Amino acid sequence: MAPARKRNEPEARIPEVIGARHEVALLDGRLVEAVYLDNAASTKPFREVSDFIKSLEPYYSNIHRSTGHDSLYITGLYEEARRIILGFVGADPDANIMIPVRNATEGLNLLAMTMDLDPRRDVVISSMLEHHSNDLPWRGKAKVEYIPIDDGGDLDLEFLRRRLRHHDGAVKVVAVTGASNVLGTVTPIHEIAALAHEHGARIVVDAAQLAPHRPVRVFAEGDPRHIDYLVFCAHKMNSPYGEGAVIGPFKHFKDAAPYLQGGGTVYSVDMENVIWADPPDKQEAGTPNVFGMLAMAKAIRVMQRFGMDSVIAHEQALTRRLLAGLAEIPRVEIFGRLDPDDLDQRLGVVSFDMPGRHHALVAAVLSYEGGISVRSGCFCAHPLIRHLLHVEGEAARDLENALRQGDRRRVPGMVRVSVGLHNRDEDIERLLAMLRIIDEERWQGRYIQESLTGEYRPEGFRFDFRSLPGFD
Ligand SMILES: Cc1ncc(COP(=O)(O)O)c(C=O)c1O
Repeated sequence: MAPARKRNEPEARIPEVIGARHEVALLDGRLVEAVYLDNAASTKPFREVSDFIKSLEPYYSNIHRSTGHDSLYITGLYEEARRIILGFVGADPDANIMIPVRNATEGLNLLAMTMDLDPRRDVVISSMLEHHSNDLPWRGKAKVEYIPIDDGGDLDLEFLRRRLRHHDGAVKVVAVTGASNVLGTVTPIHEIAALAHEHGARIVVDAAQLAPHRPVRVFAEGDPRHIDYLVFCAHKMNSPYGEGAVIGPFKHFKDAAPYLQGGGTVYSVDMENVIWADPPDKQEAGTPNVFGMLAMAKAIRVMQRFGMDSVIAHEQALTRRLLAGLAEIPRVEIFGRLDPDDLDQRLGVVSFDMPGRHHALVAAVLSYEGGISVRSGCFCAHPLIRHLLHVEGEAARDLENALRQGDRRRVPGMVRVSVGLHNRDEDIERLLAMLRIIDEERWQGRYIQESLTGEYRPEGFRFDFRSLPGFD
């Protein structure tokens, strides 16, 4: 639970987020301030991060292996960024290494590709809560099993215990999300780590959703709770410049074959032999996204200054109102933990269904008539959505047949609202007001669903982007 603010203690100033409330023109011609509630997908940049990168543009240079002034300067910042990112999750820089990647998906693929797994023998235990990025990379590399969830979206740790015992050392990896991108459930990663370690398995935590919202600690290797591998991404941390982080033991990345091969990964090459460099170079082929890395570290600094306790307090206040307000709308069915006063194990990622209203229609009306951005669909977690919406048997087969024929109209899904640092109480109130309109079928437009995309668009209206920046 976030510590309550003491009386008279000033509230820490929320860092400025660019684009938090610019104007958009709606279907009825009104201009309103946009409400962005799609932070679980990506967040808008902190002003300070954007300014920092702009200030560095004159010095941009490729890093390492140069004696040029700019290269030395940028290389110094790059390596400092690596230390900041390691420090953000309490990783010991002598034992761990941070490998920069494009995004969380690449990070999880890198791990799956560099683990020594044999699909005939080895088992990876993942969970029903996973984003595809922490599910698909493991398939084919090992036998994969999934920890089921209960109605509130909590993992069944008894199942994990039983399977670890049953496989008797064959489980090599337990790969779980730190927080669900659909239900917002925060998982007990340290309890899972202790169980995995007890049975000789390592733990991979997909912290794409967790790291921006909760303090994360990987702990030292001797500690049973320690997290062996952690992955997260900057675009969900107000630094959308394309960067992800993999954090794991130096030894693993030294022993593993390089994930990509090429420039920067070697000490020496002749026509027959290669001497691979030590990590991180060995796992960092080619020119990295230098500004992405610097921006990520700057965003971490901004968050640290604001304080993770303040992040939690701000987001929990919004989530409390969101859950309570949604519960008052007759047609809304929320998935996952429902109690607005029990938010310790829940992020401000709230998915719901409005039976009788297609999820894509709800999202379209919110956007075109409310100026409100949310997300609808399956959120790259198809097995979870199918489970929650009971899409099975014949219904599942019908759906697959329709998809093969290019018809996405009946894709099951939900509407997802996810809060971020820039959101205010008014954003939640505007969302709830629009949902009441949708509940009562009082929207204005005539919406047509496209078969190929499954999306709804209002007849005779398109957003006009001509006054916005373009290439010419
Ligand atoms: C839990 C989770 N894992 C992984 C990903 C993939 O992240 P990225 O888009 O950075 O590859 C996401 C993205 O939404 C996510 O929510």
